[in-house]
Order: sequence, then structure tokens, then C-alpha cells
Amino acid sequence: MIVANWKMNGSKASIDDWINTVSKCIKPNPEVPCVFCPPSLYIDFSRKLIDDLSSEIKLGSQLVNAEDGTALTGGVNSSMLRDFSTDYVLIGHSEQRTFFNEQANQTFNKIQNSIDAGLSIIFCIGEPLDIQKENGTNDFLVTQLEILKGLNLDNVTIAYEPLWAIGTGLNAQTAYIEETHKFIKDYCETDLGVNEDISVVYGGSVKLENAEEILSSSCVDGLLIGGASLNPDNFSNIYNLS
Ligand code: PGA
Repeated sequence: MIVANWKMNGSKASIDDWINTVSKCIKPNPEVPCVFCPPSLYIDFSRKLIDDLSSEIKLGSQLVNAEDGTALTGGVNSSMLRDFSTDYVLIGHSEQRTFFNEQANQTFNKIQNSIDAGLSIIFCIGEPLDIQKENGTNDFLVTQLEILKGLNLDNVTIAYEPLWAIGTGLNAQTAYIEETHKFIKDYCETDLGVNEDISVVYGGSVKLENAEEILSSSCVDGLLIGGASLNPDNFSNIYNLS
């Protein structure tokens, strides 16, 4: 899976250009979904473009809030996402945890509601720099992963995004990514009872120059790309490496 996370970027014109260009340039591989996550306001607009072009692009939301029926001004729920045939949703992104103060119980509720609504979840985890420096990454990741206990993880992908690599231009080294992905996969199998190998994608300063090397690891099942996904040619070239 190769995911474009546009964060708070874009306009109708740039999204139109992106969807048209990417639809033309990618060589779709049914085993590698190409997922576009525009800002929420553009979900409907993107859906229509994707449908009009019969594009292979899958639609993802950067956001889901609480369960249906909650009084939440400004909120978006999983039924609304399904109403626009959204396939994927990002949950637990560090920017949601930091800037919207998302707590573990909220992350859990979002995952559970989204599973119930039939969405595929991209669950983002990752350690801050101080934890990485004191070799605490694995313990930290366990505190984030353990909320998945007891859930049906058939439609859950884990996105490993070290916080110090997001938007900094400093991607994690391939050996570190590989070791960490292996730890995540082992934890999911041993402690969460996932039988099939769970998909783990990497995010954090992925660009055309480093994508091939990162993807070359057998423990890396795809990429979650922020800044470098905004350019449709760049993004298509990265997708075509997968
Ligand atoms: P970046 O963002 O590629 O710009 O580092 C990744 C993300 O936050 O998902």
C-alpha cells in the first residue's frame, strides 16, 4: 500500500490535477492499493473525480472522530465516510495525538467504530526522539499497540512513523526501519494473535530518492507519504517502484 497523506494542503484545482495525473501515470498493481487522503472537505470532490475517471485510486480519510450520534461540533463519523465510499482512514497520526490531544481511549474508540463501519484502518504509531535516543522505541510502541488487543485486525494496517522523521527531511535508516517493523510484526503475532502477517508501512520523510531502498526491505509493506506526495509525478514514480 502506498498512501498519500495530504495533511492540510490542496485546493480543488490541485486535487483535480493530482487525481488526473496519478490515474494516468501509475501502473496499478492490485496487491498494492494506491490511497489518496485529502483534507476532509475534499472527500466528496475527490470521490467524484475518482469515479468519473474509473481510477484505481482508493480514497482515504485523514480523520474520523467519534461514534454516530455523539454531539460533536465539527465532527466526522465513520458512517459519513462510508456514505462517500471512503475505503481507508488514518487513525492515531502523531499530529492528531499532539495537536488535538488525542488520548489512547479515543484512538481505541475510533478504531473500533471504523472496524464496525467496514473501513480499512491505517493505524499510525511511532516514538519521539528522546525515547529513540534512550533505546526505548520497542517499549513505547507496545504502549501504542496494546490498545488493539481483542480487536479484529483483518482490515488494519500499521503505519510506523517515528516522530523525529515526520516532516524533518530525516528518514529513519533502512536497518532501523527493518528491525522495528520486525518487532511490530512479531508483537502482533505473539501478543495480539494475528495469524497472517500484518501489513506494516513506513512513514517519515519518504521521498523519491529514498523510497526504493526503504521498499527493498521484506519487512516494509508500503509507504505513508506526506510532503513528497503532493507532487503527482513524484508520487506516481514512488508508487511505480512498489
Ligand atoms: P512526511 O509526513 O512524509 O512529510 O514526513 C508523513 C506523515 O506525517 O504521514
